[in-house]
Amino acid sequence: MQISDHMKDAVEKGYALAAFNAPSFDAMSAIAKAAKVQDKPVIIQTSARLVKQHTADAVGQWFRTAKKIWGAQCYLHLDHCVDLALISDCIDAGWDMVMFDGSHFEIGKNIDLSQQVSAMAHRKGVAVEGEIGCIGGEEDGLSADANYANPDETARLVAEGGLDCIAVGFGNVHGDYETKANLRWDIYEAAYDVTGLPLVLHGGSGLTDAEFARAIRAKSAKVNISTDLKKAYVQALESAEMKGKILSAPSAVHDAIFESCFDVAGTYINKFNPTEGTL
Ligand code: 13P
Repeated sequence: MQISDHMKDAVEKGYALAAFNAPSFDAMSAIAKAAKVQDKPVIIQTSARLVKQHTADAVGQWFRTAKKIWGAQCYLHLDHCVDLALISDCIDAGWDMVMFDGSHFEIGKNIDLSQQVSAMAHRKGVAVEGEIGCIGGEEDGLSADANYANPDETARLVAEGGLDCIAVGFGNVHGDYETKANLRWDIYEAAYDVTGLPLVLHGGSGLTDAEFARAIRAKSAKVNISTDLKKAYVQALESAEMKGKILSAPSAVHDAIFESCFDVAGTYINKFNPTEGTL
């Protein structure tokens, strides 16, 4: 199945695909194993910075290797990106979906550039995520202030931008929520009605189960988790036992990272797409 068909299936059936920002091959492999163990699809996403560091060819190869080792149903996605050359590299290197984040531009420019990315991606069968309003906080070096989406602009971006799914800023932020999130559910819950497209919930770490359930009822087909996976990654590195092993047995450190990312990924995959019961 293509990723865009899978998101439509999720909207119809009332579940969401968990999408994790993987900072390394270890993390990708752990996420793929969690998807396999649960027999559920997952999205592995990369920051633009990770791709710049290692090249799209190398990161694409990590993904394909992780997917093959575990025989899991995984899709590869590029998270927030404004660099059209990098997006083009990822499309050529086999990504399933790319995000063009034009939320910092005025609406005309966001539409124009989203259209260009959609034309380029769709020629190669790759899906596109756009953004309207703005997700606050910081994600792998990119920071922004939260900004609420305007419903008319959301409708325009989707009608003219050729997108496959849309991230809508409604007070959600990347990273920890320092105070209780000031979420404008009226904006989020109206977004599917004005677009008819699967929604993408950003800033998943720190939201409550009730908030996830509400977002999935509002037709979120993809829910992004980055900070909680990175916390698991860092905790594995920082444990006293691992500190001692960094010099003597570095492969044990990789095993610890793998195990803790596997646990976090499994928990969220099942939370958004439960084996039993409803959300
Ligand atoms: P969190 O870091 O809050 O989980 O957000 C992840 C995200 O939305 C990545 O785009």
